[in-house]
Amino acid sequence: MKTLLRIDASARRSESYSRRLGDHFETSWRSTYPEGVVLTRDLALDPPPHLTDETIRIFVGEGSVGGAAGADLSESLIDEMRKADEVLICSPIYNFGMPSTLKAYVDHVVRYGYTFTQDEKGFHGMLNTKAAWLLTAQGGMARFGVPDFQAPALGAVLKHMSVANIHHIALEGTVYPDGALGERLAGALAGIDRWFNLAEKA
Ligand SMILES: Cc1cc2nc3c(=O)[nH]c(=O)nc-3n(C[C@H](O)[C@H](O)[C@H](O)COP(=O)(O)O)c2cc1C
Repeated sequence: MKTLLRIDASARRSESYSRRLGDHFETSWRSTYPEGVVLTRDLALDPPPHLTDETIRIFVGEGSVGGAAGADLSESLIDEMRKADEVLICSPIYNFGMPSTLKAYVDHVVRYGYTFTQDEKGFHGMLNTKAAWLLTAQGGMARFGVPDFQAPALGAVLKHMSVANIHHIALEGTVYPDGALGERLAGALAGIDRWFNLAEKA
């Protein structure tokens, strides 16, 4: 039985394009894996706190676990991620990067001794998650010089925890006034459908 962990980061709800792409993905995933389990983590509804001095002391082994809300939360977020065979991240671009809620989440799950370790040969990821799917929405268009620092950062973070099989669909130009958003959205939804057509053939 497969488990998917779906993480949403848009502060918007019904108007959010990244959530809309995520809903399409989740519907297809559930019909491909009817016995599967979907865990959801909505970072807008339940934003993780920023790291504190006390939390970092516990992360590096200088404090005791229990009592520090951040460290307890980190362990429960990591437990949730360990259950996932696949991770779906649905996220907007805010100010060229990931939303601060998603960055705070990353700071809680990328943790030495839990999701990565290190020896003389370098870092080694510790997650068994097989694949990650990134569905991102951005108001601007890359070809007009609006950069996306989120996807490379998330890719590096996932690889660091040993999630190597990463797929990304970006819906660009959600506020770009060229009248072609409908086509771009249809293209992104069709891209998701192609992932599932490939999964069914595999
Ligand atoms: C605070 C904020 C910052 C944003 N910064 C960017 C940006 O740097 N680049 C960009 O292309 N769009 C930017 N946008 C536009 C959003 O990426 C766009 O509206 C996207 O569709 C939001 O995702 P959502 O539809 O899932 O909510 C920003 C929007 C907000 C609210």
